[in-house]
Amino acid sequence: MAPNGSLPSPVLLLLLLLLPPLLRAAPQTPRVSVSPVVSGLLGTDVQLPCHLAPGEVEVQVSQVTWLCDNQRRDRSSIAVFHPTHGAGFPSTGPGAERLAFVSQSQSPGSKFHDASLIIRDLRAEDEANYTCEFATFPGGNSKGTTWLRILAEPENHAEAHEVTSGPAPIAVATCVSSGGRPPARISWSPPSVGRSNESRTAGPVPDTFTVTSCLTLIPTAQMNKKKVICRVEHETLREPKQLPVLLTVKYAPEVSISSSDEDWLLGQQEASLDCAAQSHPPPLAYRWSTASGSLPPTAVSEGSKLVVSSVDWSANATFICQVTNAVGTGWASRTIRVRGERGPRGSRGRTEAEGTLGPPPRADSWDP
Ligand SMILES: *[C@@H]1O[C@H](CO)[C@@H](O)[C@H](O)[C@H]1NC(C)=O
Ligand SMILES: *[C@@H]1O[C@H](CO)[C@@H](O)[C@H](O)[C@H]1NC(C)=O
Ligand SMILES: *[C@@H]1O[C@H](CO)[C@@H](O)[C@H](O)[C@H]1NC(C)=O
Repeated sequence: MAPNGSLPSPVLLLLLLLLPPLLRAAPQTPRVSVSPVVSGLLGTDVQLPCHLAPGEVEVQVSQVTWLCDNQRRDRSSIAVFHPTHGAGFPSTGPGAERLAFVSQSQSPGSKFHDASLIIRDLRAEDEANYTCEFATFPGGNSKGTTWLRILAEPENHAEAHEVTSGPAPIAVATCVSSGGRPPARISWSPPSVGRSNESRTAGPVPDTFTVTSCLTLIPTAQMNKKKVICRVEHETLREPKQLPVLLTVKYAPEVSISSSDEDWLLGQQEASLDCAAQSHPPPLAYRWSTASGSLPPTAVSEGSKLVVSSVDWSANATFICQVTNAVGTGWASRTIRVRGERGPRGSRGRTEAEGTLGPPPRADSWDP
């Protein structure tokens, strides 16, 4: 049929164009597969994978060579595998004590397609680019390069320094990441908390680094017991280490006085003042006095509390509470107005009482 018969021709044309490359059986360069980057921990063993990818045509491996290229030395051969002579480790490299082929024990003559290399007891100087080169017949040479990076996991810790409040910025916490390779990155949060400065020194193990970061800020009483976080980032850590630190700022007492009643009434049987102090370290002593000197005779100091058993005019005064801790002394004052008796029980002569009794005697005059 005319319409159907015309259809196959473009398909056929396409097939004719595609077939020749598929059928061509010329020897191709074999492919070598390696990992572009391998990381190993200092002091441990690492494997550098290298495989000859199975190709269309079977090739004969005549030799495998591992070359090491670190910026200090020239490119040199460090490991060789020969199908009949087996493995050899030239003295230019780490040598037979620390090198081995993963499949070097296999019987000579068998197909040697896995040239993966083991490096034991990694040292910093092993950091280099390693080239795995297959010499084959037919097909020629093929190679791949792996960048071996030597890492060391750091030890991290953070601590607060006990500081005393003041107007000048001071180091309040230190975070240390020791023995990392490469050096760890340290940051503090919240980011606005202060400034940090950092120093980098040699780590406890050769070719590692210790990073020390100091958090500096103006030490205020409000910063005491505030939590800050030292964050350590390192490629050996799956997640950044978060090290919480409670800041410690010593400060003199911050004092306030509260009263049992808003107004004290003349003749009231029990009235008291409470002295509250915020401080670090805790208060050592409370001292009550009045603006004019000593306490009224009816007032008894019970530490942070001042108890007045019976209110008379001597309690019409400005009371002062002084609190001392290891850092210093803070104080607060509160003026108490004593009112003449009033209300249902003492309504008689309320204003008169206030007026007639006059101003209270000075506290001094009540001193024994
Ligand atoms: C390895 O090669 C990479 C890229 O070619 C280079 O960036 C790196 O510095 C080399 N590493 C060493 C240790 O020579
Ligand atoms: C940060 O700076 C202060 C003052 O310049 C210095 O005393 C301290 O040692 C520094 N800390 C670090 C970790 O570099
Ligand atoms: C009580 O003290 C206040 C000052 O704090 C004074 O103005 C007032 O006159 C005093 N009252 C009496 C009755 O002395």
